[in-house]
Amino acid sequence: MIGKTPPMGWNTWNTFGWNIDERLVREAADAFVDTGLKEAGYEYIVIDDCWARKERDQSGRLVPDENKFPGGMKALADYIHSKGLKFGIYSCAGVQTCAGYPGSFEHEFIDAETFASWGVDYLKYDYCYKPDGVPGHILYKRMAMALRNCGRDILFSACNWGNDEAEKWMRASGAHIWRSTGDIQDSWASIKQLALSQLNKECYSGPYCYNDVDMLVVGMYGKGNVAHGGCTDEEYRTHFSLWCLMDSPLMIGCDIRNMNQAMKEILTNKEMIEINQDPEGRQAYTIKHWNDPDLLIYVKLLSDGSYAFGFFNMSDKEGEAALHFWDVGLPASAGYGFLLRDVWQHEDIGVFKEGYKCRLKPHACRVFRARLVKA
Ligand code: GLA
Repeated sequence: MIGKTPPMGWNTWNTFGWNIDERLVREAADAFVDTGLKEAGYEYIVIDDCWARKERDQSGRLVPDENKFPGGMKALADYIHSKGLKFGIYSCAGVQTCAGYPGSFEHEFIDAETFASWGVDYLKYDYCYKPDGVPGHILYKRMAMALRNCGRDILFSACNWGNDEAEKWMRASGAHIWRSTGDIQDSWASIKQLALSQLNKECYSGPYCYNDVDMLVVGMYGKGNVAHGGCTDEEYRTHFSLWCLMDSPLMIGCDIRNMNQAMKEILTNKEMIEINQDPEGRQAYTIKHWNDPDLLIYVKLLSDGSYAFGFFNMSDKEGEAALHFWDVGLPASAGYGFLLRDVWQHEDIGVFKEGYKCRLKPHACRVFRARLVKA
């Protein structure tokens, strides 16, 4: 079965948009291995929109643009598989994709067959140009049925931006992940807006169907298709921490062929990834500061009995975030405390009995793995 934990990988869209070809995708696969991304758990290499010819062939099949992908998708998938990685592609529930290429509407089954014959392992399925009169949930149900019966395990990444009350029907319809937000941009304002839009949505996410808060912008530094000013390393660390705690898929969007040390350290932080990939898949709940909504604490239950505590300062001024353990279920009278391990510093900082508080610079965070101990 696929989709038990949030998928991890890379997608062409955030940096490269329409400017994609098979060389880029092969180099990305090489980079997965060379930079340690594969070892850290990243496995899907996904081609987003703009890979196809503008017309289907005479038998109604999608055809890759031969200028961009002269070797065809099967050969590319074989190359990716030869590296021990998985291959993803993109289509759309409407008559066209968002960038104006053929969509899968009324071609769902033939497209699923085609993707399976190429060796596709992941399908991102968008929502542009949806014909009037057909409810969106029917379109996702169609593609889910086609994929689940195409003879290959293909992870179904539904991307309807959370429209039409998607949280109510995506899991039952067969998506493995579903975009619960609009598109991300490479800016702090976008990261903050997307994260805050997910407050109290944790009940809709879980194993085999996770909320997808869109692809990561870590390491874009204002360059590429969704660039919008870029972020600092501190902001990228906060972004990555939030996405991990929200159980979002971790789909990298930067140019992974050119990563600096800071990007690598963020994207391959093993302790942070472990929190995201916890097999129970319980998305974090949040606790707000009593009078400052920009000071947020995320609490995620982990399958070994421990917890992840994330302290976030989403505001533009310094602040103090405080967690009272009473709020997560630990009364002082119980005789326990939490041993806190800083997941970014990789060190234990001590046992705390009633609570923990820390000062945070603007847009900064601290994340701890917390283990209950007698105290
Ligand atoms: C939509 C999606 C994006 C991307 C583009 C491609 O906007 O939300 O993630 O796939 O389409 O055109």
